[in-house]
Order: sequence, then C-alpha cells, then structure tokens
Amino acid sequence: HDDKAAYKARIKTLLQQKNAVLVAHYYTDPEIQALAEETGGCVSDSLEMARFGNQHPAKTLLVAGVKFMGETAKILTPEKTVIMPTLEATCSLDLGCPAAEFSAFCDAHPDRVVVVYANTSAAVKARADWVVTSSIALDVVDYLDSQGKKILWGPDKHLGVYVQKQTGADMLLWNGACIVHDEFKAKALIELKKQYPTAAILVHPESPDSVVQLADAVGSTSQLIKASQTLPNDIFIVATDRGIFYKMQQLMPNKTFMEAPTGGNGATCRSCAHCPWMAMNGLKAIEEALLEPTGHEIFVDAQLRERALLPLDRMLNFAK
Ligand code: 13P
Ligand code: SF4
Repeated sequence: HDDKAAYKARIKTLLQQKNAVLVAHYYTDPEIQALAEETGGCVSDSLEMARFGNQHPAKTLLVAGVKFMGETAKILTPEKTVIMPTLEATCSLDLGCPAAEFSAFCDAHPDRVVVVYANTSAAVKARADWVVTSSIALDVVDYLDSQGKKILWGPDKHLGVYVQKQTGADMLLWNGACIVHDEFKAKALIELKKQYPTAAILVHPESPDSVVQLADAVGSTSQLIKASQTLPNDIFIVATDRGIFYKMQQLMPNKTFMEAPTGGNGATCRSCAHCPWMAMNGLKAIEEALLEPTGHEIFVDAQLRERALLPLDRMLNFAK
C-alpha cells in the first residue's frame, strides 16, 4: 500500500512537471481511475476520452486504456505528445481486423458506406467513411439508414447485430468479437437472475445477442453507468468488464453490483470479465511513460492521420 502511495505521489508531480493529463477508461484498474480523478484528468467511455483529449490544454496526453484510444487521441491532436503506459495494450477487435483484408472487403462492396467501430487501427479508420463508438453507433446508423444508405460494418459482429436489429438498417458485418464480452453466457445469466429476481441486467452491446436479449439496459460504459443511477433497482447484474464497478459503486454506494456469469454453470466468475490489455495499465508503467516517453509514445503516419481524421471528425461533429 505504501508502495502505491509513493507511486501515486511521484506520478502526480510528474504530471505537473510534464504538463500532462491522465485520460483513463472505465476498464482500467480502480487505482488508475482514482488517480485520473485526483489529478484533474478524466475517466470515461471511449467517446468522451476522445473529446476530453481533444479539448484539454495539456501538452501531453497520457492515455490509460488500449492502443486505439491513444491513436485516436494522436489523430485528433497531432500537435500533442500522446503517451501510453504500454504500447502492447491492444484489443481483440483491432487484432481481428487487419487493414489490408478489411480494405479488400470494402473494395468488394463499393455500394456500401463503411462504418467502423472506434476499436480499430488508424489504418482501418483511414478506410472508413464513419467511425463510431458504442455510445453513438445506433444514432449514426439510424441516420445513415434514413438517408437510404447500405452499410458495411466492422469489426464487432455482436455490436453489428445489435445495431442492425435496433435500426433495421441493411448491414453487412465483418466477423470480429471482443474476447471479454464474447464470454458472457445467456443460460447462466438466466439462472443468476432467478436467484435475484429484482435485479436489473445491464449489458454492453459487444456481448452476444442471446445476452443482449436479457438486458434491461444496453449501452456503452457511460450509458450503463447512467442506467445504474436511473433505474430504480437495488441490485444490478452487469455484463461488461469489471473495471466499471469502481465508478458504479462510487456513484451508487447503497446498490449491489454483481458480475454477469462468464462460465456455463451459473456461478459468477469473479475475475474473468477483465480485459487483459486494459489490465496492463499499472502505476509502474504510468511512471515509466512519464519519465521516459521513448517506447511509450504514439505516432501515426501523417497521410494515414489525415485520412483517418475525416471519419473521426464526422463522429465528433455528429455527437455534438
Ligand atoms: P466504450 O466506448 O463503451 O467505453 O467501450 C470501449 C470498449 O473497449 C468496450 O470494450
Ligand atoms: Fe477490446 Fe474487448 Fe478489451 Fe474493449 S474489452 S479493449 S473491446 S478486448
């Protein structure tokens, strides 16, 4: 514990010295989220992270999350130094959507508007017409559908199915999934709900359709946190990364939050629903990144950046 306090104190000093601000995702460990809060940084979903970094005056953005979040920050604010605790923190959706193959898929369907999830590389974003995060995917696709557009969607198939069902849009889906959310099991969730009949079920739309169908609320991390505040229930079963419990518990200390089951036997696994890449964002790595940015800094090729900025800007302007 003392060790952690010492890390935190040194990091606070370094953030000031380097004119840096900590931008953290809800899936990072509680101590990282707390540190962002204590130092005037932000803890949020991926859309808000992009917005915050874009608007904050700091010269350096220290992004605690996964690589696409750092890349998005760099694309939006190339004049800033963007560093991450580790550049190894990737995402299974990003890994499962190589730019060359995705581009060929797009080429094969030139009649479709290309909408990609933010959880992608800069190169995939550069091939897209629109970038969306889970918090505005429905609104953007609804808008495109109302314009009579057919859509090519990548990479998350579960989010794609969810958006398709909600909007009725014509969507062709890339076959990607999040290794964390893909593990939630509908059968076990039904059993758990029987034990807690008054519980509300909150589900991130990267989960399989069978799990989404059981939800009382579906949405991005920030939308799920809001649902935990606005729904009258005292108990919540939550199908998303367990990092989110820090904020839910903080905002609603008298409510009970439990993890949706990732196993097949009805028992909740207390440590399964946690993104292994988000977990790489530790205090030690944060201090290292601030002390010596080499090997922690995000660079995006200038041409790619220019192209990827278009669909990202489109998203931010749409979300206004
Ligand atoms: P949010 O945009 O809901 O924060 O989701 C990001 C993410 O990686 C979910 O797995
Ligand atoms: Fe990617 Fe899933 Fe991790 Fe989110 S939780 S960063 S979608 S692997």
